[in-house]
Amino acid sequence: MIMDNLQSIQEKALKQIEEAGALDALNEVRVAILGKKGELTNVLKGMKDVAAEERPKIGALVNEARDQIEKALEEAKEKMEAAALNDRLKRETIDVTLPAKKNPMGHRHPNTIALEELERIFIGMGYEVVEGPEVEKDYYNFEALNIPEGHPAKDEQDTFYISGDILLRTQTSGTQVHEMEKGRLPIKMISPGRVFRADEVDATHSPSFHQVEGLVVDKNISFSDLKGTLVEFARKLFGEDTKVKFRPHHFPFTEPSAEMDVSCFKCKGKGCRFCKGEGWIEILGCGMVHPHVLEMSGIDPKEYTGFAFGVGLERIALLKYEIDDMRLLYENDIRFLNQF
Ligand code: DAH
Repeated sequence: MIMDNLQSIQEKALKQIEEAGALDALNEVRVAILGKKGELTNVLKGMKDVAAEERPKIGALVNEARDQIEKALEEAKEKMEAAALNDRLKRETIDVTLPAKKNPMGHRHPNTIALEELERIFIGMGYEVVEGPEVEKDYYNFEALNIPEGHPAKDEQDTFYISGDILLRTQTSGTQVHEMEKGRLPIKMISPGRVFRADEVDATHSPSFHQVEGLVVDKNISFSDLKGTLVEFARKLFGEDTKVKFRPHHFPFTEPSAEMDVSCFKCKGKGCRFCKGEGWIEILGCGMVHPHVLEMSGIDPKEYTGFAFGVGLERIALLKYEIDDMRLLYENDIRFLNQF
């Protein structure tokens, strides 16, 4: 009786194990047969009713049945785990022949492209590129450039003050003073950077824009050095057939001073919408460094002379890429920026 029961439990268990499709189904079988209240456990509990001489034999049979069921459970489990692993490996295969995903790449801003071209030109002429502070002392921005308190040029460049004598620089010209104060001569430098003015935004103005300052100080530097250098610069930047014109002007820190125009590269000087019918386009301010400016920075104007210039970077970018509104440079609309 007990042996028949044992036999049917074992057969049922093995069949259920074979049919189990997943690990939790196997576990259910284990609990139903071998668990605390499992069928085989019940058989063992019934041993007390078995005649004493029969017990060892029955006990051995129960143990054997349990061993077989456990073995079957273990094998089924291993098989399932192996199949699951295989499945995963198959799913995770990498097809190395698939084309790679492309990450969208940005590119340089038109201002940066123009700056790098400008730097290349001056580095090619032996200039060093230096940087100056955007937050500046009144002394460097005005005073040391011959613009004392109450000078009308200070009014023209109204700006943002941090405190009484600390401000956001209105021009990169202060870098000239920093460079001269280092006391290393000769000087041949350009200094690009951001400047600030309390200007309303329109097509040609912005409260923050960029300039590139230039300064050469050495013995026997003359106005013809200035002209030769800037003519070369204009030709490299706008094309070899570019004509250049110097108009007398006034800057407090240079004497004499001039503004430089280039022949319109669009109409070659005939006059067009681009140059407003003039045939010429103004691109920079320049001049011979004022002796008093040299002196204030500790350079003897009897021994040394120099020339300086200041270029508006946005103006160069707008001209080179024929952009008619400066605001486009700052809006960061990628439909616009992607064109350069
Ligand atoms: N700093 C001047 C400005 O912002 C530009 C300039 C003119 C710079 C003549 C110079 C210079 O170095 O020599 O308008």
